[in-house]
Amino acid sequence: MKIFSLYNIKGGVGKTTTAVNLAYLSASEGARTLIWDLDPQGSTSYYLCVKPVIKGGTKELLGHHPDPQSMLRMTGYPNLDLLPADLSYRHMETQIDHHSKPLLALQKILKPLKDQFDHVFVDCPPGIGVVAENVFQMSDVLLVPLIPTPLSLRAYNSLVQFLVKRRANRLQVLPFFNMINDHKPIHRVVTRNVFGKHPIFLQSIIPESNIIEAMGVKRSPVFSYARESSEAQAYRALWNEIKQRDGRRGHEKTKH
Ligand SMILES: Nc1ncnc2c1ncn2[C@@H]1O[C@H](COP(=O)(O)OP(=O)(O)OP(=O)(O)O)[C@@H](O)[C@H]1O
Ligand SMILES: [Mg+2]
Repeated sequence: MKIFSLYNIKGGVGKTTTAVNLAYLSASEGARTLIWDLDPQGSTSYYLCVKPVIKGGTKELLGHHPDPQSMLRMTGYPNLDLLPADLSYRHMETQIDHHSKPLLALQKILKPLKDQFDHVFVDCPPGIGVVAENVFQMSDVLLVPLIPTPLSLRAYNSLVQFLVKRRANRLQVLPFFNMINDHKPIHRVVTRNVFGKHPIFLQSIIPESNIIEAMGVKRSPVFSYARESSEAQAYRALWNEIKQRDGRRGHEKTKH
């Protein structure tokens, strides 16, 4: 089971939209795929038309014998299951603090599912508390969407410094740009600079687009209503590049 987490300290950068589209692509290729909506906002659950509720809430999930299997929901897309959000996830930070192994709490939840899924996509809430530290601990790949502005890069640099301090060497960090608008000079300047200096960034970019924004109305991945669009193609290219980088993992992992 390989765990890909969509994470950024910042909010509103495209974690959820990307998680939903990449999970769809993974599942459509035949990989047994789980998407975990870890955000109390429940946006992934909303996009996939599933009620953001789990029986027993965070307390049950963080209990001694979590049974995530009983909390899974089908999404209607072949090979794609959802572990929904729950409003009680807003208490997760404090409840994890009381866990016997606070940094391994989320890893323990997924353990019973490890033979059942090939890929897990975790849609993380923004922030850098103990939930984020759990995500760093349990993930194989941290996918970091960034809007190309100086402040976004600053937040990304803080994340990298944090991971270096925590010696998170096992974690592969793959940043990429989302919501690129070629008409904005700042986007052109930032992307040009970054691509020139930081080969760790994925080359595939996701454009700012009304088709992607429409996911909120269609409540589905872009592939179900705009399969042939350039936006769908951009997500395919991103997913292919992630898989290629994954193959070169040993080579990358010391870079951050
Ligand atoms: N490439 C894009 N083009 C246009 N709109 C986008 C794009 N990506 C995301 N959005 C829109 O931007 C908003 C934020 O996206 P999303 O919810 O994916 O971000 P997030 O990082 O998950 O946010 P949060 O931190 O609140 O969970 C949404 O309204 C979404 O529809
Ligand atoms: Mg989100």
